[in-house]
Amino acid sequence: MEPIIHLEKITKIYNEKSDPLKALDDISLDIQKGDIYGIIGMSGAGKSTLVRCLNLLERPTSGKVIVRGKDMLALSGRELRRERTEISMIFQHFNLLMQKNVEDNVCFPLYINKVKKADARRRCAELLEIVGLSDKAKAYPSQLSGGQRQRVAIARALATNPEILLCDEATSALDPQTTTSILSLLKEINARYGITIVIITHEMAVVREICSHVAIVDNGRIVEKGTVDDIFDSPKTEEAKKLVLYRRGRDVTIAEGGEGI
Ligand SMILES: Nc1ncnc2c1ncn2[C@@H]1O[C@H](COP(=O)(O)OP(=O)(O)OP(=O)(O)O)[C@@H](O)[C@H]1O
Ligand SMILES: [Mg+2]
Repeated sequence: MEPIIHLEKITKIYNEKSDPLKALDDISLDIQKGDIYGIIGMSGAGKSTLVRCLNLLERPTSGKVIVRGKDMLALSGRELRRERTEISMIFQHFNLLMQKNVEDNVCFPLYINKVKKADARRRCAELLEIVGLSDKAKAYPSQLSGGQRQRVAIARALATNPEILLCDEATSALDPQTTTSILSLLKEINARYGITIVIITHEMAVVREICSHVAIVDNGRIVEKGTVDDIFDSPKTEEAKKLVLYRRGRDVTIAEGGEGI
């Protein structure tokens, strides 16, 4: 089966002229439709840069980005905007419009795409039901908890019916219990709608909890990739071992009643 995301020899160099920094170095990666794919690595490894290359928020310096069979780097501005409605994104700090209520936040991508107000509101009601916030349509983000804000962001991300959802540290600002509830919601969305999910995280627990596959990024390179079971059971590289063993150490701490994540 043709992968829904195909990256081929991606390189990203920031500040090419003055002070070059190679953030991504020869990244190749295939993600199949319906996967929940984790991208894990230390701070500064290049994870955010990597996912931003999927919807061309960053343009790679070289390499190929094929999403849903389309060569993203060859699209016109208009085609790219159309394609981006199929590739939604959520973030650590939710990025909601603080001056707008929940309903207007969720409807925002629909209004931009010229959906009629009545239709947008109907879609919003469905989405709020999916994320369990039907009673909060008129609330403002400042009146919501972190977990509720991320649910609004998820509803907004799903508004245009995307095929792909990118999550950049979507649970990093949340406590462990809220993290679990957001991960269950993502899992449910994946199962119900077949949306392919790419999750960036520095927490192995998140990968373990919901991912089918994982790639380990270190210093701009993918040092190991495969199914979560394979990588957890027999990590091959030093970097993978470090992450997996470190994680196991933390599991022990949690089991012993330590402070956890
Ligand atoms: N816009 C930019 N201009 C210049 N350098 C950048 C830019 N964005 C990122 N970098 C550099 O590229 C490297 C990779 O950054 P990136 O944000 O992708 O890492 P990350 O793995 O997401 O880290 P974190 O876990 O801290 O979010 C870092 O060295 C960073 O300083
Ligand atoms: Mg990042």
